Amino acid sequence: MSLQNTDPTTTEAWKKLERHYKETKDVHLKELFAADAKRATNFSVRWNDFLVDFSKNRISKETLQLLLQLADEVKLKEAIKAYFGGDLINQTEGRAVLHTALRGKKTDTVLVDGENVMPEIYEVKEKIKKFTDAVISGDKKGYTGKPFTTIVNIGIGGSDLGPAMVTEALKFYKNQFKTYFVSNVDGDHVHEILRELDPETTLFVVVSKTFTTQETLSNATTIKKWFLKHGTQQDIAKHFAAVSTNTEKIAEFGIDAENVFPMWDWVGGRFSLWSAVGLSIALAVGFENFDALLTGANEMDEHFKSEDLDQNIPVILALLSVWYNNFYGAETEAIIPYAQYLSRFSAYLQQGIMESNGKSVDRNGNPVTYQTGTIIWGEPGTNSQHAFFQLIHQGTKLIPVDFIGFKKSLYGDDDHHNKLMANFFAQTEALMNGKTEEQVREELEGKLLSEAELAKLLPFKVFAGNKPTNTMLIDKLTPKSLGSLIALYEHKIFVQGVIWNIFSYDQWGVELGKQLAGAILGDIENSEISSHDASTLQLLQDFKK
Ligand code: F6P
Repeated sequence: MSLQNTDPTTTEAWKKLERHYKETKDVHLKELFAADAKRATNFSVRWNDFLVDFSKNRISKETLQLLLQLADEVKLKEAIKAYFGGDLINQTEGRAVLHTALRGKKTDTVLVDGENVMPEIYEVKEKIKKFTDAVISGDKKGYTGKPFTTIVNIGIGGSDLGPAMVTEALKFYKNQFKTYFVSNVDGDHVHEILRELDPETTLFVVVSKTFTTQETLSNATTIKKWFLKHGTQQDIAKHFAAVSTNTEKIAEFGIDAENVFPMWDWVGGRFSLWSAVGLSIALAVGFENFDALLTGANEMDEHFKSEDLDQNIPVILALLSVWYNNFYGAETEAIIPYAQYLSRFSAYLQQGIMESNGKSVDRNGNPVTYQTGTIIWGEPGTNSQHAFFQLIHQGTKLIPVDFIGFKKSLYGDDDHHNKLMANFFAQTEALMNGKTEEQVREELEGKLLSEAELAKLLPFKVFAGNKPTNTMLIDKLTPKSLGSLIALYEHKIFVQGVIWNIFSYDQWGVELGKQLAGAILGDIENSEISSHDASTLQLLQDFKK
């Protein structure tokens, strides 16, 4: 079954939401809280060790009902069924979208072309376990008989961001290995890292779904050449592993079949960390922790699949995002984890969200007449407070923010954690309440200012607030809770794609850049430059001088 094609703007709910927006857009969050003593509980979902409080949003019960009606009219429930059921919902590439199967239970049945893929998934998981156990225990050794001390992941996009983000996020759970991630085709990246490496004790994991990506192949080739200055061709078998759907190309590169981990074309690159693409994660934190990450994601999958839509966390967060994006005209969303371990989380989600929903043609092949993908950005709190929060508080743009925080810190330093979390709560409160004239006057009372001086300062110090936020308060950053959190955002992407009537699982725009770069490389390396616009031509000529 393919997804239904409904232009969301033609639904009854959309029209009602437009009217509803006009009627309610100036209502202040403070009024909404004053009118409903139970607003916090009415607009919160408790699930596992998550408390998702979305009460500080510019919505009423009616808003939510209308958004849910929109979900109903675009047949979201049927779409969720098709997504988990392995239907070819990535229609432009003729593929299913089944990263959810990667964290499924062994006893599940997930059919692709009539065949259950779970036995294959578990075979690869078993291979990952054996391999990582052997490397971690030191049974698997380098070419001079020394155990490995360092893991280098070579990949880009989904073959880098997921493993890099999770490895950083789970640093607390890490074992003895140093880990590096080489991604950029900028040679300075790989050469900086090579300086740190000992060829005798480094294990390289080349990750590329297609095994044709220029950056990854260039970096892998440079590293192989460096390695061969120390070890022999035969030693490569001990030091290189690879993850790809393209096993032929891996063989050409010279990696031993025993160290090759397959993946499948029904796993999108940006959703692939749950597959063997997560090998560096499993090496860095051990297979048990990797498996717990998958369990957490699976629990979120079950919640998303079976929970009523009005209590369904990914659905609610997606609908709120549609509300601001399509009715308030908000262009960006900030994601602010109050956890230094999640420093790469927003960067990771940028690919997931923007590569998926950055589309302007609907599922009928027509240009959309409404806004789609939101721009995602963010950095951990509290650092971000001292960088860009001013604009969220007092700028001209409406920027909905997700705040993600944990009740317990991993090192258990309560003094620091209480300060961190005080900031976490203070920011959402400040964004909602702003500062009234009365409060400013009170604050300036002791300063002995004249009324004229006070009047001059007031406009700058008073601000309206009414800035929407979601707060996710989670017990502790563990492999399992991280898995659930990532899966939550994956499903949010899916829901928004369904509502916007776009294909979220291809990325043709990125492919064009890749093709052009290939052609221009020829222009740089050959004496002749082929035809280009005047600007590109001038730049190329200057570069080649
Ligand atoms: O950026 C485009 C893209 O195709 C991503 O979707 C993907 O994660 C990345 O390139 C890397 O691709 P591969 O894993 O095939 O090397």
